[in-house]
Amino acid sequence: MVDLFDKINNNFGPIGQHHEWSHGYFSFPQLEGPIGPRMTFKGKELLVWSLNNYLGLANHPEVRETDTKATADFGLAYPMGARMMSGDSKYHVQLEQGLASFVGKEAGFLLNYGYQGMVSIIDALVDRNDVIVYDAESHACIIDGVRLHMGKRFVYQHNDMESCEKQLVRATKLARANGGSVLLITEGVFGMSGAQGKLKEIVELKKKYGFRLLVDDAHGFGTMGPTGAGTHEEQGCIEEVDVYFGTFAKSMAGIGAFVASQRNIITYLKYNMRSQTFAKSLPMAMVVGLLKRLDMLQNRPELREKLWEVARALQTGLRERGFDIGNTDTMVTPVFLKGDLNEATALTRDLRETYGVFCSIVVYPVIPKGLIILRLIPTATHSLEDVRLTLDAFSAVSEKLAEGYYKQLEAATAGSTTL
Ligand SMILES: Cc1ncc(COP(=O)(O)O)c(C=O)c1O
Repeated sequence: MVDLFDKINNNFGPIGQHHEWSHGYFSFPQLEGPIGPRMTFKGKELLVWSLNNYLGLANHPEVRETDTKATADFGLAYPMGARMMSGDSKYHVQLEQGLASFVGKEAGFLLNYGYQGMVSIIDALVDRNDVIVYDAESHACIIDGVRLHMGKRFVYQHNDMESCEKQLVRATKLARANGGSVLLITEGVFGMSGAQGKLKEIVELKKKYGFRLLVDDAHGFGTMGPTGAGTHEEQGCIEEVDVYFGTFAKSMAGIGAFVASQRNIITYLKYNMRSQTFAKSLPMAMVVGLLKRLDMLQNRPELREKLWEVARALQTGLRERGFDIGNTDTMVTPVFLKGDLNEATALTRDLRETYGVFCSIVVYPVIPKGLIILRLIPTATHSLEDVRLTLDAFSAVSEKLAEGYYKQLEAATAGSTTL
């Protein structure tokens, strides 16, 4: 028999295999200083485009003040225990009510992490007779939730409604035969590409197939729709989204998440989500801080307007300069380039070291070989001058890439361990 640890020693996994040269620079980079568009990386100030601090609340003085006071009042331990046992409070309930009414649902339930929360929502909603239909580019937490499912699942090609309907036909047939139901899962805004899930079209299919719709709106909550309520508001189908999920890790600049739906569905989830029943509830200081954030999200539309001003300037500028930014129709801004892993790492290093721009890089095996995605996340705290500097930097590195400059550098830089 192979020793488990020997196996791991010989294979650190698809991303981990690069850890010796990537750790601390490309993976696990340590950004220092106050959260904002300018942070320090390895002693140097860089223009940062990789934080989902969409509305700039992370370091907003009013938010910081509330967080500080709440921490002084309650500490970080309070309340102790899971919500069901000893970890509930009036603040938790108040936040749930505020969130639910904001996103147009009867009731809400807080989740101590978005990832586990989503896994558990899926696990709790379906049983072995039910069938799941989901988008192929779903976030890992949806994939993991689907993995737990004991019944059948059908995946449809990303945002492809023909493929979606085909899978719905199969799923409906099977569910009928089993005496089960169908749950369709999509994201509101796909975090990697910036494309919106086609909620409006999916909702149309509900009339024909009678399934229930769960939307992971991690990126859309607080950013999309006339009031920032989410992608379902943006697409005019608030009612028809049956179960709505949002996280606090992005526009709310906190931690945790929530699910909102009809009252009975939330009551059921409260008593049947294993990741919440058997885990500690959100700290009070965070919950009080989240109440402040929700208030700002609802009453400071200028933050969202600023985010969109920056996003539009960035995306228009990139398109005008001939960059391929795919089919984003949200603030998430991917830049697609062609190159191998070594070129991607040399280019990213050049962006950081020469041009002072820090953004996230996505390469194979997350995306196909030969493709590089540099993902830019605009926020309300960026300025139009930041956009201009970044556009110039991107023009410079893409010219170098086209000339083969990074190919020559690969031996000297990409594999370097002196990061
Ligand atoms: C689409 C989507 N769903 C869920 C999550 C998980 O949320 P959290 O960070 O709150 O665990 C993320 C976070 O990256 C996400 O992008």
